[in-house]
Amino acid sequence: MNYYFITGTSSGIGKALAEEILKDETNWVVGLSRRNVINHARYAHHYLDLSIIEEVKRYEFPRLDEAKQLVLINNSGQIGDIKRIGTADNDAIDNLFKVNLIAPAILMNLYMQCYMNHNAERIVLNVSSGAANYPIDSWAPYCSSKAGLDHLTRTIHEEQKITQWGIKVYSIAPGIVDTEMQSEIRSSNSEDFSRYDDFVRLKEQNELTSPEAVAKLYLEILRNTERYTEPVDTLRNM
Ligand SMILES: NC(=O)c1ccc[n+]([C@@H]2O[C@H](COP(=O)([O-])OP(=O)(O)OC[C@H]3O[C@@H](n4cnc5c(N)ncnc54)[C@H](OP(=O)(O)O)[C@@H]3O)[C@@H](O)[C@H]2O)c1
Repeated sequence: MNYYFITGTSSGIGKALAEEILKDETNWVVGLSRRNVINHARYAHHYLDLSIIEEVKRYEFPRLDEAKQLVLINNSGQIGDIKRIGTADNDAIDNLFKVNLIAPAILMNLYMQCYMNHNAERIVLNVSSGAANYPIDSWAPYCSSKAGLDHLTRTIHEEQKITQWGIKVYSIAPGIVDTEMQSEIRSSNSEDFSRYDDFVRLKEQNELTSPEAVAKLYLEILRNTERYTEPVDTLRNM
């Protein structure tokens, strides 16, 4: 059996990933987030608010000695308060870094503590963003949290060469995807966000990728990791 631990399965990319993975009857999914919308015999939901770091630290990965594959997907993410620094909400900044960067780092640490000597194929996939690579005004916490996630991944990738635990780690940006996060971006305004009109236009011109298409591409990577040697990349290159 293969076990996938996925944060944020209640909407968008995370939900599409869980649903695609559950099509294979050798797969089980554990979803971690505040809401659950999936009802399936091989799905279990663990209610967890990733902004409450003390709760994240208490999460225990199950041993699963017979597993063939053990995958952690850090997918949960928040765009935050779409305002420039100096006008943004402090609590939103605090929450965003916890959900987008601190919780994934702790979950990776707990996952590796539990599975460093496991015989299963072990993979961590972090859902990054193109925004990690260039500044976008009013998204400063978001851009920097994703840049942090990419660099955390690069560093862990290097560490694996020393520890020889054999755990593969990736941080891969999905492109622009038609999810609740994009609706949230379109509910901001052009005064606070210089690229507001671009995001409205992308939706109007049907240029957003579907979460289902993105999920299929991510799964293609997870099923063929021998072909993917770069720890940080974007689905656009694949
Ligand atoms: N959509 C895009 O264009 C795009 C582009 C680049 C990168 N991404 C990345 O893709 C990932 C998924 O986003 P999406 O587009 O699918 O957005 P979405 O539909 O808004 O989904 C976000 C998910 O994150 C979870 N989440 C948010 N806050 C959480 C918290 N405090 N604790 C636990 N889970 C939390 C939500 O679960 P609950 O509400 O159940 O907690 C939800 O399932 C994110 O990391 C995002 O940065 C998206």
